[in-house]
Amino acid sequence: MRKITVIGTGYVGLVTGTCLANLGHEVTCVDIDEERIDALNDGHCPFHEPGLLSLIKSNLLEKRLRFTTILKKAVHHAEAIFIAVGTPENEDGSADLSYVKSAVQNLSPYINDGTLIIIKSTVPPGTNQKVREWMQSDSGRTFHVVSNPEFLREGSALHDFFYGDRIVIGSTDNNAGRFLEDIYSKINTPFLQTDPLSAEMIKYASNAFLATKISFINEISSVCGDLGADIEQVAQGMGMDSRIGEQFLRAGIGFGGSCFPKDTKALVQVAQETGHPFKLLSAVMDVNERQKNLLIDKALKRYGSLKGKHVAVLGLAFKPNTDDIRESPGISLIKRLQKLGSIPIAYDPVVKNIPYCAVNNSIHEVLSGADFAMICTEWPSISDLPLDVYENTMKEAVLFDGRNCYAREDFEGRTIEYHSVGRQPYEGLITNKQSIKFKLL
Ligand code: UDX
Repeated sequence: MRKITVIGTGYVGLVTGTCLANLGHEVTCVDIDEERIDALNDGHCPFHEPGLLSLIKSNLLEKRLRFTTILKKAVHHAEAIFIAVGTPENEDGSADLSYVKSAVQNLSPYINDGTLIIIKSTVPPGTNQKVREWMQSDSGRTFHVVSNPEFLREGSALHDFFYGDRIVIGSTDNNAGRFLEDIYSKINTPFLQTDPLSAEMIKYASNAFLATKISFINEISSVCGDLGADIEQVAQGMGMDSRIGEQFLRAGIGFGGSCFPKDTKALVQVAQETGHPFKLLSAVMDVNERQKNLLIDKALKRYGSLKGKHVAVLGLAFKPNTDDIRESPGISLIKRLQKLGSIPIAYDPVVKNIPYCAVNNSIHEVLSGADFAMICTEWPSISDLPLDVYENTMKEAVLFDGRNCYAREDFEGRTIEYHSVGRQPYEGLITNKQSIKFKLL
C-alpha cells in the first residue's frame, strides 16, 4: 500500500485515482475546482462513466480515497504523485502544457525528496525532461520523473485500467521504474519499461495509428459505396487477417472525443518541429473532417435542399457509454444542418442538454415530427431500435445511418428508405410508392 496523490480530477485523473485506491492504495485526488471536489466528496461523479460512481463511493467509504483542493496537505506525505491535468490544443494544434507546468511548479515547494512524479497527461515527447527541469529550477532539488501514459477508452475506462493490454513506464532510473511497477503489481497486465521519450511517443503513435485505421476504413467505404461493394463484408474479410485485426475497422461518420483529434494534430506539430511533415497523418485528419459531412452530403444529394427540413438527430455523445460531446460528429452535423436552414431535434440517452438545439428524451417523439432521421452514435437504444418504429412513427421513413447499425437485408420488403456508409442505399419507400402509384394508375 502506497500513499499516492493524483493532481487533476478530470477523466484520466479521476479514473486513475479511484482505480489505484481500489487496488488498496491510499489516494488523495487534488483539483483547484472547489465545486467539483465538494461534489466528489458528496459521492457525485462529474461525468458518465459506467461503474465509476460506485467505485468512488465504495473507496470513499473505505477511506482509501480522498478529494481535496489543498495541494500542500495532499502532496506532503505522498510517495508518488500522478500528474493528470489537461493538455488542451493550442491554436496551431500543438499541446498546451501550461496546466502541467503550473501543477508541477505549485507542488515543487511541498514535496519530499524521493517522491516520484508520474506524468499521466498526454504530452509531447520531451515533456518529461522539461518537467524535471522546471522542478529543479523551482526547488533546486532533483526529482525522478516517470512517463506513464494512459490508454483508457471512455465508456470502458475501468475495464481498460484493470485489464489493459500493457502498462508503459518510461524512466531514466531503474528504481523509479520498478517503484511504479510495484504500485500496479496487483494488475495482471504486461509492463513495458522504456525511456521517457519513447513512452511519450508510444502514446501519440498508438492513438495516431488507431485514428489512421479508422480513416483508412472510411476511405475504403467511400470506394465501396461508389463501386457497389459492401464495406461491412470488406471490413470483416480484412479483419480475419490476424495481421490486420478486426478492431477499429468500423466505417462511420468519423472519430471524435478528447483524444484522437487532439493527439493526431499534436503529433503532426511534433513531426513538423523535427523537420518531418507527417503527410499521412494530415490526410487522416482531412478524411475525418470530410467523413463528418457524409450524411448531410447524402441528404443534399437526395433532397437538393435541406432548408426547412425537420431532422431527427439520433445520438450526441461522440461514442456510446459516455456523455462526452467533445469533437462529436453529431454536434458538427447539427451545426451544419442549422447553417443549411434545417431544424434539427436530437435524442441521446445520456446527453440531455446542449446549447445548439433541442434535445428530447423520447426517441419516438423526435422521430414523429421529422422529415428524415440521422444516426450519429450507436447507443443500444438507437442501434437496436426495431425498424417498425421508423415505419410507424415517421411521415415518410427515411434513415441516414452514420454508424451502419443495421444490415441491408433487414430492409427487404420494408417501406424505409435507408442510406448508410459504404453500402448501396435501400430505396424501399421510393420503390414502393412508385409501384403503388403505378398500381393506382
Ligand atoms: C481513445 C483510445 O482508444 C484510448 O486508448 C486513449 O487513451 C484515449 O483515446 P476514446 O477516445 O475514449 O479512446 O474512444 P475510442 O473507443 O478509441 O473511439 C474513438 C472514436 O473513434 C469514436 O468517435 C469512435 O466512434 C470512433 N471509432 C472507433 C470509429 O469510428 N470506428 C472504429 O472502428 C472505432
